[in-house]
Amino acid sequence: MIIKIREMCIDDLPEVFHIGESLFSSESFPIMYRTWDEYTVTSLFNNNKDLCLVAECNGKVIGFIMGTVIEKPQSPWKYGYVVWLGVRKRYQKSGVASRLYDSLEGKFKEFGVRIVLADIEATNGKALKFFEKKKFERTSIYIWVKKSL
Ligand SMILES: CC(C)(COP(=O)(O)OP(=O)(O)OC[C@H]1O[C@@H](n2cnc3c(N)ncnc32)[C@H](O)[C@@H]1OP(=O)(O)O)[C@@H](O)C(=O)NCCC(=O)NCCS
Repeated sequence: MIIKIREMCIDDLPEVFHIGESLFSSESFPIMYRTWDEYTVTSLFNNNKDLCLVAECNGKVIGFIMGTVIEKPQSPWKYGYVVWLGVRKRYQKSGVASRLYDSLEGKFKEFGVRIVLADIEATNGKALKFFEKKKFERTSIYIWVKKSL
């Protein structure tokens, strides 16, 4: 299986959207505080094109990563934020996300990023393991509270 990592282009957007739809469903992430929708994909692509990458296998998009750089007025450092990362289910566990992340990290370095951040639901075991493997440390624990009306 030959997998190529490349920058996302406009023609990839529908495929990226549909992969995300299959992964970030409300059944899998019932209390996700952010939503996966067309606007998310198009706005990240418009604003951070250099930091949006796809993995391609036999001409087909099988995964994606979308990042952004955050600068805070009170901090001299730049932060890289991994906003969305997803790999089609049948291609998972074969190193695709790892390669996507490594490419994004390389780009973050070119942008002068000092710290990379990601937020993950505590129940998302796969993603927690993934970021541990990539040498992320756990930091503050945020608790999302909810109230049904
Ligand atoms: C998390 C996700 C992106 C990982 O993608 P992937 O291509 O399967 O990951 P990789 O094959 O590159 O795995 C790299 C490492 O992550 C860890 N990992 C990945 N999937 C795992 C799983 N199902 N169980 C345990 N560890 C896992 C392992 O340490 C693995 O290294 P190893 O293969 O040497 O054991 C994928 O499961 C996914 O798309 N999940 C749904 C979307 C999501 O939760 N995104 C993250 C938040 S935005």
